[in-house]
Amino acid sequence: MVKTRAIIDEFDTYVPGKSKKEISEKYGVPENEILKLGSNENPWGPAPGVKEAILNAIPEMNRYPESNHEYLKEKIAEYAGVNKNQVIVTGDGADELLDILAKTLIDPGDEFIVHPPTYMYYSFTFKQYNAKAVYAKWNVKENKLDVQSVLDNITDKTKVIFLCTPNNPTGGLIPQEDIIKIIESTDALVVIDEAYWEFSEVNNVNLLDKYDNVFIIRTFSKVMGLAGLRIGYGLSNPELLEKISRIKPVFSLTVPSQKAVLATLADKEFIKESTKKSIAEREYLYESVNAIDNLHIYKSKSNYLLIDVRNSGFTAKELTSKLMEKGIIVRDCTSFYGLDEYYIRISVETHPKNEKFIKILKEIVGN
Ligand SMILES: Cc1ncc(COP(=O)(O)O)c(C=O)c1O
Repeated sequence: MVKTRAIIDEFDTYVPGKSKKEISEKYGVPENEILKLGSNENPWGPAPGVKEAILNAIPEMNRYPESNHEYLKEKIAEYAGVNKNQVIVTGDGADELLDILAKTLIDPGDEFIVHPPTYMYYSFTFKQYNAKAVYAKWNVKENKLDVQSVLDNITDKTKVIFLCTPNNPTGGLIPQEDIIKIIESTDALVVIDEAYWEFSEVNNVNLLDKYDNVFIIRTFSKVMGLAGLRIGYGLSNPELLEKISRIKPVFSLTVPSQKAVLATLADKEFIKESTKKSIAEREYLYESVNAIDNLHIYKSKSNYLLIDVRNSGFTAKELTSKLMEKGIIVRDCTSFYGLDEYYIRISVETHPKNEKFIKILKEIVGN
C-alpha cells in the first residue's frame, strides 16, 4: 500500500447534504417528487440568461479559460461595491478560497479559531494543512457569537479567525461592532464568511478599506443559483490577493462558469427577486414551525433555519429518516461540531413545496 501523509490516515470524510438521487434510490421516491430542503440552495434555479450564455460558450470549450478574470473582477467589484483589485474569483466555489487561504497562510502547528457550531469546511480544510483548530463559542440558545470566547483564544500562533455571518447552521448574525473588536485585537487574518449575506441585507464590505487583515468570502452558490457550477469570490486587500494568486489553481474557473457569472450579474431583477422570495419563504417556514408545540425553531437571517427537535420524541437522525421516507431531504446536524443529536436544518424551497413539507412534518411529529 502506498504510504499517505499521517494527517490523511486519520481524516474523517466530509459529510455533505444528501442528494435527490441518493434518496430516490434508497426510498424509491421519484426524483422529481423529492423536496430538497437540505443544502441551502436557490430553489428557483439560475437567472434565465444563464442557459443561453452557457450554450453560446460551447464553441469555445476546446480552449482553456481566461485565467486573469479581469472583466469578471470588474463586474463582481461593481456588484460588491469595491475596487477591482480587491477581488479574487475561484472555480470550486468559496470552498476553493478556504483551500488557497490555508495554502497561503498556514505553517504546520499554526492555529485557527472557529466558533462551533459553524460551517464545518473551515476545519476540514485547514486541518489538512496541519493547522490546529481552536474553538471559540457560538451561543446557540441566544443565537449569537460569544465574542469574548474568540478574544480569549487569540495567541501568537493564531493565523486565521473565521467569523460566519449569517452563521451556518444557526442563522444568527454577528454585529459589526463585535467583528471590529476582533479585528482590532489581532494581526491574524479575520475571515468573514458572507456566503449568505444577501438574505440578511447587511454586509461588512466597508471594513476592507479600513483594515488590511480582513478577508470576505462570497459565493455564487446561494442567492445567485449557481451551486452546480462551483464559483466563489473573495474580497480583501490587493497585496494579500496578489500573494494568494501566486498559488491559486490557474484554470479552475471554467468557461461556462465565467459566462454564467456575467449573465447572472447582468440580471439585477433576478438577484433582487430571489432574495425577496427566499426571505418571504424563510419567514413562512419560521412562522409555520414556530406554531408546532414540540419543535423549537430559531430566528434566521439566512435562507435556512435551525430546529431543535428534542421534544418531538425523535433524534435528528430519526426525524430526518422519517422525512426521507416521504421524499423530503433536510439536514441532520448531528455531524456539526458543537451541536448534539437533536438539531435539523431546513432551507427554503418554493412555496407549494414548503407547504407540503410543513404538512408532512406535522403528521410525523403529531401536531
Ligand atoms: C457558510 C458557508 N460558506 C461557504 C460555503 C461554500 O460555498 P460554495 O463552495 O458552494 O461556494 C458554504 C456552502 O454551503 C457555506 O454554508
